[in-house]
Parts: sequence; structure tokens; C-alpha cells
Amino acid sequence: MTIAKPRHLINTIQLSNQEFGSLVDKAAAFKKQVRSGNPAPLEEHKKLLGKVVTMLFSKRSTRTRVSTEGAAAYFGASPMFLGKDDIQLGVNETLYDTVKVLSSMTACIFARVNKHQEITDLCEHSNVPIINSLCDRFHPLQAIADLLTIKEAFGARKGLKLAWVGDSNNVINDLAIASLRSGISVSISVPSGISLDSEVETVAKKLAQEQGLSFEFIHDPVVAVKDANIIVTDTWISMGQEDEKQKKMKQFDGFRITKELISKGGAADDWKFMHCLPRHPEEVEDAVFYSENSLVFEEAENRLYAAMAVIDSFVVNKGDLLQ
Ligand code: CP
Ligand code: NVA
Repeated sequence: MTIAKPRHLINTIQLSNQEFGSLVDKAAAFKKQVRSGNPAPLEEHKKLLGKVVTMLFSKRSTRTRVSTEGAAAYFGASPMFLGKDDIQLGVNETLYDTVKVLSSMTACIFARVNKHQEITDLCEHSNVPIINSLCDRFHPLQAIADLLTIKEAFGARKGLKLAWVGDSNNVINDLAIASLRSGISVSISVPSGISLDSEVETVAKKLAQEQGLSFEFIHDPVVAVKDANIIVTDTWISMGQEDEKQKKMKQFDGFRITKELISKGGAADDWKFMHCLPRHPEEVEDAVFYSENSLVFEEAENRLYAAMAVIDSFVVNKGDLLQ
């Protein structure tokens, strides 16, 4: 019997503007339902009752783990967390054999891996949807939650600008594409000597051109925050880069987000600050991180609704995102 290939969530590049928007809208709808005071779905809505949602995680996690487990429970599924020391993968067993076995027994696989190639390999061999839960190049679940957070803060306002002050990494790769897909101009500033993912750069330029938006990749954080409504950063040392800490701390001199930088750059009066978390004090000062302008904890909560939207769209509705 030939099994139809499932649709996977690899990154925001593979989605259309409309599909990405529908995931954000669905996340908003789940939030409304959960917040309504009757968060537990009726028995007939437990669409994955008796199924297992696998979480194949080779890196640590708080938000992605908790949001995925919460979303699985919402649909009546049992989440199964498989950390790197829990299973035979990498010691006694190959990725190919592992994914064949997992996809024969479970409804989907949320995978947090090192290299993007591991996501591609999982997708090639899996009979169930693979949900990229962070790799070295992408973090699409974060981008869905982030665009929901921006929508909540700014409504349908046009002409927004998002400024990134930080590293060139997985989070901004998907956030830049997701923002442009949502009609938001993007300015990315990173220290000189650091480049942007070439596929992301090509897609971002095309999206900006198609929609009359601005997209720039520069090395001056002061220029990036000019007129910005949304100012975003992430750790300077992503998981797996711990050995580069000393070098990177020097390289990122001048990239710490402070009220002084925001004022010097001339951000919009109603600027907001966002960070995917976990946060380290070097990339943003407390006066910004814990300020009234900060959306970081709303953003973290929105990860739950993003996970619900993704399970509903890719697992329950089998990848028909516009349903
Ligand atoms: N933002 C995010 O993905 O957090 P975790 O690493 O804690 O999952
Ligand atoms: N860029 C960070 C994101 C953590 C959620 C990392 O990859 O570690």
C-alpha cells in the first residue's frame, strides 16, 4: 500500500502569505477559546484522542516543550518527549531507522535538531507530519506566535516596521519572512562580518518588492531602529555556539538594546520590544525587557496557541491550511 506523503512545517518560506496568515488567525481563535473560561474542548473536539504527539528534541527547551505538550493535551493526544538521552538515536540507531519507527506509531513528530539537514532528512522519510521545532536555520513556531503578538499590539495598522538588533540566526530568518508576508517592513542589523542566510535574503527581497515594503540587512543598530514600531532581539549565543561565547561577546559590542539606543535611533513613539526567550542580560537591559513597552511574556504565552494552530492545520486537517 502506498502511503500519501504528509505536508510538513519546515519554515515560513514554504508557506504562502495567505497560509501563514491563516495560521496566525487560527492561533488567535484558539487563544480566544482558551481564554473564554471553557478551555477544555468538548469530547467530540478531541480530534487526536488516543494518538501520540512525539517530541524528538536534541536540545533543551521550555516554551516549545510546554506549548507542544499543552496543545497535544488540548486535542486529546498524549505528548511523548524524547530527549537526546532517552532513545537509541545517535548511539545505537540511525535517524532513518528512528523516523521510520516513530512515524509508524505516532500522529506527528515535533523535532528540535541541530542542523537543518536533519529536518530535511526527517521529512523525506516520515509518514507523518514533521514540525520543525527549531533547527540552526529556522524556528517557524516562534514566528507564528510573534506575528500573533504583533497583531494583538497593533491591530490591522499598516506601514509597520520591525527592527532586529542581534545575531543572524534561526529566529530572525523566519521572523523576517513572516513579517514581510504580513505586510511589515524589516530592517535587520547584525555586527559586521556576519552575513544573512542567502535563501532568506533572496526570498525576503522578493517579498518586499512584491508588496512595496522595505527590507534591509545592515550593520548599524542605530540606523535599524529608526522609526521602528517593533524592536526585537534574541540571544547572541544560540544553543550549540557556547564555545564562541568570548568571541561573540566582543563582536556584539554596541548591539545591546537599551533605552538610550532606542532613543538615539529614533524609534516610533509607541515602540514595542520582543524577544523569543530565553533572555540573557547582555542582549537587552532590564529597563527595556521589563518595561511597559515589552511584549515578551504575551509572546511566550502565544507559543501555546501557535502550537495548537499547527497541530490543527498540519495533523488534524492534514496540511490543508486554508480550510
Ligand atoms: N523560544 C523558544 O523556543 O524557547 P525554548 O527554547 O524554551 O523552547
Ligand atoms: N537562537 C536561539 C533560539 C532559542 C529559542 C537558539 O537557537 O538557541
